[in-house]
Amino acid sequence: MSKNGAGKRPDSPVALVTGASGGLGQALALELDALGCRVAVHYNSSKEAAEAVREKLTNPSVLVTGDVGSWEATQALHAHITAELGPVDVLVNNGAIRKDSLMAMQNPADWAQVIQTNLIGSFHTARVSVPHMLRQRWGRVINIVSPSGIIATAGQTAYSASKAGLIGFTRTLASECGRRGVTVNALSPGFMITGMTNTLPDRVIEGMEDKAPIPRFVTVEEVARSAALFLDQDCMTGQVISIDSGVSIT
Ligand SMILES: NC(=O)c1ccc[n+]([C@@H]2O[C@H](COP(=O)([O-])OP(=O)(O)OC[C@H]3O[C@@H](n4cnc5c(N)ncnc54)[C@H](OP(=O)(O)O)[C@@H]3O)[C@@H](O)[C@H]2O)c1
Repeated sequence: MSKNGAGKRPDSPVALVTGASGGLGQALALELDALGCRVAVHYNSSKEAAEAVREKLTNPSVLVTGDVGSWEATQALHAHITAELGPVDVLVNNGAIRKDSLMAMQNPADWAQVIQTNLIGSFHTARVSVPHMLRQRWGRVINIVSPSGIIATAGQTAYSASKAGLIGFTRTLASECGRRGVTVNALSPGFMITGMTNTLPDRVIEGMEDKAPIPRFVTVEEVARSAALFLDQDCMTGQVISIDSGVSIT
């Protein structure tokens, strides 16, 4: 064991990627597989997309489902992973939703569902995964956040609050886990064309690229390539790593 209490990284860590049926989640699952992880490919409703991802993986893997906003469903999917691959060593909280509306007109149930899925769901998955990481004194939690957690975007109070909350969760959990070799970081991608964004009206997307210091959207593959950084760095914790064309500094 090293001076900071960190143990040895498992030879082939078990990595849970929530929302691996979606745009960024697919890329992260493939990248973690390429880095030697055994991936739990999670989906909520898009089973076929998740199966297609799993077929591309080279290491042992498992397909799991469940709404992370439900504590019971999260416990069940965690038990499924543990039975098939072993306990989770790397958690990627990627699955999320957005329900945009001006706050003054927003349906309270929609607002609550965004917080339940994006923020409370990330707590649920961490709650089931982190105790094992602490026991083995090695683990990684990677929370996918967004520039919207920092920058005001009209119509996104729910999404923004969920991602800002997740940044606070990241920092505080990092402070709780550092002495036992578990790092907790946030990854903040810029605008990517995925299922979450491809239904936005053209008028919203038009001109958006040009507002960033690097005037183009990022790709899911570019964002997923950062997985190696999170796996490798023992002394990076509580950070928000932005791969966002510089949007967060505007
Ligand atoms: N696209 C962007 O421009 C952008 C920018 C910044 C940050 N992000 C973040 O990047 C992450 C990935 O989003 P994406 O762009 O790849 O969007 P996406 O293609 O819509 O993927 C979202 C994923 O979340 C899953 N999901 C939805 N509800 C869930 C629930 N209740 N429990 C568990 N999983 C659930 C979906 O699963 P099913 O399809 O199986 O239901 C899907 O796999 C999100 O955290 C998002 O906030 C995206």
